[in-house]
Amino acid sequence: MKKLSVDHLLGIKYLNEDDIHLIFETADHFKEVINRPIKKVPSLRDITIANLFFENSTRTKLSFELAEKRLSADVINFSASQSSVSKGETLIDTVNNILAMKVDVVVMRHPNPGAALFLSQNVDACIINAGDGTHEHPSQALLDAYSIKEKLGDLKGKRIAIVGDILHSRVALSNIFALKMLGAEVKLCGPKSLIPRHIQSLGVSVSTDLMETLKWCDAVNMLRVQNERMDLNYFPTTREYAQLYGLNLKKLERIKKEIVILHPGPINRGVEITSDVADSKNAIILDQVENGVAIRMAVIYLLVAKLNIPQV
Ligand code: CP
Repeated sequence: MKKLSVDHLLGIKYLNEDDIHLIFETADHFKEVINRPIKKVPSLRDITIANLFFENSTRTKLSFELAEKRLSADVINFSASQSSVSKGETLIDTVNNILAMKVDVVVMRHPNPGAALFLSQNVDACIINAGDGTHEHPSQALLDAYSIKEKLGDLKGKRIAIVGDILHSRVALSNIFALKMLGAEVKLCGPKSLIPRHIQSLGVSVSTDLMETLKWCDAVNMLRVQNERMDLNYFPTTREYAQLYGLNLKKLERIKKEIVILHPGPINRGVEITSDVADSKNAIILDQVENGVAIRMAVIYLLVAKLNIPQV
């Protein structure tokens, strides 16, 4: 059996191209499984997984939980707001207490960049990063790249645009690493105030012109403005942002070609994307959600294969 080069999924930057292809091949198999009348396989019957969410989530939390249950793992869920974290318990103490209950894998979302890496260096379990602050969201980038590949074929030479609040986006950074690794060309677009300085050093191009970006690309990933992470005003008004950087049907008609439209969710309809575009035939937003379960099944399955747990 082919194996991943890593023992944890901390970020796309720790993977290599073979890892991504292996995850995609495994996800192809699990996508077929979850479309069967019986959607469950016994692969992880003796494995216990804890989902630790220190930040809100709809898609990622439910998708990981479903992926774990489809693989027949035992699942426990932890949300910071209902836990002893509010009484001052440290992250390592919290996780070690959970691991004392014989947990094999920890899926964690945390507001601090580097939290997943820190955990992997301090506790004895396989760690999966479900989003760490503004840093990385590797399973999202894997499902985004997988969904684009499903529509456009091999990503080598494909032109992918990422539009919006790049500065505060872990999805953007993980997407850049994944898409570049798979040979795509990547352009970032947004107001200058929301594009990190020196981001071109990652091998991407940058534009502040949405129409030019739309004409250039084969697929566009529209990102949400992350108001909850902003301590400053990065643009004058939401209305002006929507006019300059929001995607609507009029702009799509002007480019006179079809492009694939992605959004990681949650969507702010009428800001970065209008409802008619989000619900249009070229938008693959719900395909991304469906593929997310297969991708997360693949990631968990491949990481558990590296744990060398004795079979009884
Ligand atoms: N795409 C994503 O991370 O969504 P959630 O915040 O709902 O998990």
